[in-house]
This record gives sequence, C-alpha cells and structure tokens, in this order.
Amino acid sequence: MFTQFLILLLFCTPFITTSGHSFVRRLDRKMLGLDQKQEKLSHFRFYWHDVVSGPNPSSMQVVSPTGLNSSTAFGLVNMIENPLTLEPQLNSKLVGKAQGFYASTSKTEVTLLMAMNFAITEGKYNGSTITILGRNPVFNKEREMPVIGGSGLFRFARGYAKLRTHWFSPTTKDAIVEYNVFVFHY
Ligand SMILES: *[C@@H]1O[C@H](CO)[C@@H](O)[C@H](O)[C@H]1NC(C)=O
Ligand SMILES: *[C@@H]1O[C@H](CO)[C@@H](O)[C@H](O)[C@H]1NC(C)=O
Repeated sequence: MFTQFLILLLFCTPFITTSGHSFVRRLDRKMLGLDQKQEKLSHFRFYWHDVVSGPNPSSMQVVSPTGLNSSTAFGLVNMIENPLTLEPQLNSKLVGKAQGFYASTSKTEVTLLMAMNFAITEGKYNGSTITILGRNPVFNKEREMPVIGGSGLFRFARGYAKLRTHWFSPTTKDAIVEYNVFVFHY
C-alpha cells in the first residue's frame, strides 16, 4: 500500500510541478501585448451628479452619522450610482456612472472618504472602469483624489482626479461636481 502510494507520488510529482501554477513568475511584456503599446496619458472631463433628493435619488444614505458632530455628519455612509455626464446638465450626454460609496471621516471638518468605480459607457471605453480612492474635503475649492487602477482599457491605470463643485444646493444637498481625470493607461 505504502509502496503504491510512493510510486504514485513519484509519478505525479513531475506532473504537478510542470502543470501546476507556481505562485509567481516573471512575465515578458509581449505576453500581454504591452510591448507594442505606448503608455498613453489621457484627460477625461465630465460632471458627477450626487442626486440625494426627489423621487429617484442616485445617492442614498445607508449608514447614519454617529451624532458626534452633527455639522460634519461623522460616520455617514452613502451608496451611490451617480450619473457622469458630458455637460453640467443632468440630461446632457451620459458617459458613465460612478458606482461606490462615500463616508464622512472627520469630526471637525466635512471630509469624505470616496471609493468609486467610474463605469464608462462612452465609445471605445464602454465597459472599461477607472477606480478612485481618495480624500475629499468637499468645501475646498479644488480637491484631488488618486486613480488607483482600472479595468479593460484602463488596465495598469494610475493618475489623479481634480474636482471642483460646480453647483450645490444647501437645501436639497444635491451637488454637481466637475471631474478632470488625468490617467496613464495603455
Ligand atoms: C464640529 O464641526 C465643525 C465644522 O463643521 C467644527 O468647527 C467644530 O469644531 C466641530 N466640533 C467638534 C466638537 O469637534
Ligand atoms: C455599451 O456596451 C453594452 C454592452 O456591451 C451595450 O449594451 C451598450 O449599448 C453600449 N453602450 C454604448 C453607449 O455604446
């Protein structure tokens, strides 16, 4: 029994090592077709609509603030599927959606942690995504957040987004934010 097992093990060992995937290996760029491609730098501009009011909000509170400071809403979490449009008007051309969430992360100022995927639907970028993770002190005139990656045409993406509030309603809390996204990708 034991010898049978040993024989089996001996026969299988080369098989396991050759066909089994090793944990990591060095890859030639050619194998992903990256040797042919120049890394590009692109600038995307669009408007992000945080619609919290009305019958069809795109942004909804899913966690209530802690109550530690009502003016910063520390602890609040909103889940979003915010439209991204070419112009500031919500009914202008839709180029994608920002899917993710933002959370209020300060007890002393209004600052959000934002985690979003820009699911682009425009032109050849349809189906590709850009991922943002950053800090957004919303009342600053200009904010910056990192592009930490992407998928599809945005594989290996890195860069940053500059944002400015285009319009904000203190009564409804709806906001339109201009995004300028600078991204290196293949
Ligand atoms: C609450 O937030 C405001 C800013 O919105 C800040 O000025 C104030 O110091 C904060 N209060 C406390 C107790 O942290
Ligand atoms: C994007 O791709 C999806 C799925 O392939 C397709 O249904 C949709 O019509 C495309 N959108 C645009 C704007 O091309």
